[in-house]
Amino acid sequence: MDKAIIAPSILSADFKYLYEEIQKVEQAGAEYLHFDVMDGHFVPNISFGIPVLKSIAKCHHMVNDVHIMIADPYRYAPDFCKAGADILTFHYEACNSDAEVFKVIDLIHEYGAKAGLSIKPGTHISKVLPFLYSLDLVLIMSVEPGFGGQSFIPESLGKVIYLRNYIDENNIKCLIEIDGGINEETGKIARAAGVDILVAGSYLFGHDDIKERIEKIR
Ligand code: DX5
Ligand code: ZN
Repeated sequence: MDKAIIAPSILSADFKYLYEEIQKVEQAGAEYLHFDVMDGHFVPNISFGIPVLKSIAKCHHMVNDVHIMIADPYRYAPDFCKAGADILTFHYEACNSDAEVFKVIDLIHEYGAKAGLSIKPGTHISKVLPFLYSLDLVLIMSVEPGFGGQSFIPESLGKVIYLRNYIDENNIKCLIEIDGGINEETGKIARAAGVDILVAGSYLFGHDDIKERIEKIR
């Protein structure tokens, strides 16, 4: 089993020292920086958006892994790509049809970023199958999107195992990312289930031993 890619979620960072917090996780060995955008409509919380992404996208060398939990992703995808998203992951549930999902994927690729599709805990994993040959990444939410610091939903593992088998059996080039409640224990079981990328917010930020924590979940 290859080592997991680690994507610290800055939603849990201390925003008084955002630059320093980003440097800390980069020096601790994180490969991606997970950037959680929330609009107060698609999810019941508001986080940050394009001006913040623009200001931090080039202050580190990690992959800008942007997770937009917003309504109308088609309208905003170009702005996030231009602001520095290397991967732009939108929600299946924010689209009104499969055709719209394909339109957003194509638009993200047109603007030069990799396209990810995320599903909430209540959405069946089979909903992502039609898009797998166009996607670069599937993000399986292991908490209800909207907040950091929630507990891992164990049923998410069944989705990972199903998708891992489907991708491997069909030789599809698409990464699996899991997001929400990842810590030493849940990170290990998520890896064993077959994820490629682990998002972690509250498990990493706010602790003095980030490097050790990253190595523990990798
Ligand atoms: C939740 C976000 C997650 C969250 C992870 O809506 O998508 O990325 O910040 O935070 P933890 O790791 O604390 O659950
Ligand atoms: Zn996220």
